Amino acid sequence: MYSTKIAGIGKYVPDKEVTNHDLEKVMDTSDEWIQERTGIKSRRYGEKHKETTTTMGARASEIAIERAGVSKEDIDFIIFATLSPDYYFPGCGVLLQRELGITGTEIGALDIRNQCSGFVYGLTVADQFIKSGMYKNILLVGAEMHSMGLDFSTEGRGVTVIFGDGAGAVVLQRGPEGHEGILASHLHSDGTHAEELAMINPGSHGGYHLGKENFGYPEDKEYGGIFLTDKMVEEGMIFPNMTGQLVFKKAVQKFPEVILEALQTAGLKTKDIKILIPHQANLRIAQFVQKILKLEDRQVYNNIDKFGNTTAASIPIALCEAWEDGRIDNGDLVCLAAFGSGFTWGSVLLKW
Ligand code: UT7
Repeated sequence: MYSTKIAGIGKYVPDKEVTNHDLEKVMDTSDEWIQERTGIKSRRYGEKHKETTTTMGARASEIAIERAGVSKEDIDFIIFATLSPDYYFPGCGVLLQRELGITGTEIGALDIRNQCSGFVYGLTVADQFIKSGMYKNILLVGAEMHSMGLDFSTEGRGVTVIFGDGAGAVVLQRGPEGHEGILASHLHSDGTHAEELAMINPGSHGGYHLGKENFGYPEDKEYGGIFLTDKMVEEGMIFPNMTGQLVFKKAVQKFPEVILEALQTAGLKTKDIKILIPHQANLRIAQFVQKILKLEDRQVYNNIDKFGNTTAASIPIALCEAWEDGRIDNGDLVCLAAFGSGFTWGSVLLKW
């Protein structure tokens, strides 16, 4: 079996910086509340009408491809993870292929819908394709343009202040047998609380999972008209919702579990981790995880203060930044872990 290594990594964050003080001007919130509860000071928003989830993903990809020392035409598969796609369908994978100008290669493109753990899921899928010998150079992207789909009224403050835009990408390459690269990956899910961190509209649910809630469906119509109704738009039912405390409670339980699971599989200990890159959901979650696992400050990388929670993009952005800062050398043990909507969670342990 081949091994899988990260041959190149890139990130892209839009120029527009939005501070907590900027948000204070549009909703009833405060810099103090946001910093104390989340550790976030500012986030970036893409430029409306000019940037999209796909274009940001493409900018990060170009850097990753260049750093991998390959050409765009060498990419033989695309995996794109996002919860804020340009379109409901088709997914961003094919749009990225077009944006990079490689439609002629007619390679496959897969879209991943695992939200915060999308990058970890994507990495694990890519690893299997590479180890089996099916592909040599896979482009994996995590990108989000949250700012286009958030509720900027005070009603939405519990969710909106957390999220930011950006993208990260890696080129995963086939390595020789025995070369270490990705050592272990574990993926999990539990759909019990699917609606507790979700954007349920537009969708085909027709109220099914939620009892008899009235979404304004035209009852007199026998066919169609149920994906999106006027009521959903008028009453703000088109925005993401989150039961923050439940998500927090589950996250601090599952992060350590899945990290220890990875270490156990690889026969390693927490002291062997050079750097843990947790999904940047909330600084308090990362600090909790660090405390439970008794990791030193130098072993955990956080950048949520600058970028907020960029969901599928948060791990590759942080990984890229840590690498650019010289925090990761060849042979270092890197642990990536994520938890989020679904709930889905997972970890990947790799030798850089
Ligand atoms: O990446 C996806 C995974 N997501 C997560 O991991 C998120 C996990 N959860 C969290 O990070 C935290 O639960 C939040 C940061 C979302 C919220 O923090 P919290 O300490 O759990 O606050 P809360 O939701 O219990 O709200 C406390 C109070 C409420 O007011 P009352 O009812 O006590 O009067 C909220 O209305 O804070 C209020 N509040 C705000 N106040 C100012 C909620 N959002 C805001 C806000 N600004 N932005």
